[in-house]
Amino acid sequence: MPFQSGRHFLQIPGPTNVPDRVLRAMNRPTIDHRGPEFSRLTLGILDDLKKAFQTQGPVVIFPSSGTGAWEAALVNTLSPGDKVLAFETGQFAAGWAEMAAKIGINVDLAPTDWRRGADPATVEAKLAEDAARRIKAVLVVHNETSTGVTSRVAEIRQAIDRANHPALLLVDTISSLGSIDYRHDDWQVDVTVAGSQKGLMLPPGLGFNAVSEKALAASRTAQLPRSYWDWQAMLKANETGFFPYTPATNILYGLREALCMLFEEGLGNVFARHARHAEATRAAVKAWGLEIVCAVPQEHSSVLTGVLMPPGHDADELRRLILERFNMSLGAGLGKLKGKAFRIGHLGDFNDLMLAGTLCGVEMGLALSHVPFQKGGVAAALDRLAKA
Ligand SMILES: Cc1ncc(COP(=O)(O)O)c(C=O)c1O
Repeated sequence: MPFQSGRHFLQIPGPTNVPDRVLRAMNRPTIDHRGPEFSRLTLGILDDLKKAFQTQGPVVIFPSSGTGAWEAALVNTLSPGDKVLAFETGQFAAGWAEMAAKIGINVDLAPTDWRRGADPATVEAKLAEDAARRIKAVLVVHNETSTGVTSRVAEIRQAIDRANHPALLLVDTISSLGSIDYRHDDWQVDVTVAGSQKGLMLPPGLGFNAVSEKALAASRTAQLPRSYWDWQAMLKANETGFFPYTPATNILYGLREALCMLFEEGLGNVFARHARHAEATRAAVKAWGLEIVCAVPQEHSSVLTGVLMPPGHDADELRRLILERFNMSLGAGLGKLKGKAFRIGHLGDFNDLMLAGTLCGVEMGLALSHVPFQKGGVAAALDRLAKA
């Protein structure tokens, strides 16, 4: 590609733009991960991370991608042949269910049309039917990054309670933590899975499990083989601020800074900022006359908006043109949405003018690609921003 001046717009729904403050924090020599300075760093982070998950319990940090943290949640709590209930809300939920099946878990995968979240009524019905208590866990992706749909975890919790079922609740918050209100303790989630590269504004490289008492108890009898992912060894080492193996030291420097930034802004304000940008983005998409992937208004995602292309028009071609002409990356349609949808990420270190630039890039790209659409999406978004 020829030289492009100015800053690249990274508007995929993660990895997100890493703020300069975080980049600078990581730009330091790596220290001895068995020394006192490292121990102080880790103990502070482990304490502060709890606030991000809204939990009083332990949060485990793995040097891994989010996929590793998925595996850790499963292998620490389940045994070969255990049954779990999962929802195919999109590419990532399908991927987690597929991983569970690969490692010997018996998955009951409830289908969806990829335009809605996990259905609390289905959770209740399936658990109520399970008189023999064979289902050991319910797996939910809080924010399905492939579609822009946010499942209602609080309602799923209530559904499990109404069925009076002991299944564990395992939730993927890889693209929601630090962007959408999420309450590990209040919603009695047993394992919350997260990653560094989205709402936490870090590069990829850290995976997280927030762990409830009930999940810890399950880990004492769970029989799936595990070594690298074993919580017990990690929790033991964490007591004194260390890790059982070499940690991702420089990303931890970044995490220290990112947590400071989130707390300086205030988590409530961070969530409100994301909701407001999402609302303005939806106003733009509606004004363009295009369809949003999410079909359920109360499940619209605050972190990304999935947009369906008019039939006969290729979303990847539009993304290619926008990258070439405006130096902006948008999210591709994944799985069965490949070529049919694109995704606008509006999460992480992001503000009104960045959103305006992003939407301008999309509107100019639509015009250049001869996709049938109405002008005025950017204006509608700006009106919404001015009102909110
Ligand atoms: C909701 C969700 N789950 C899981 C993953 C997989 O995480 P990773 O690519 O970090 O392994 C992603 C990645 O985008 C995601 O968005």
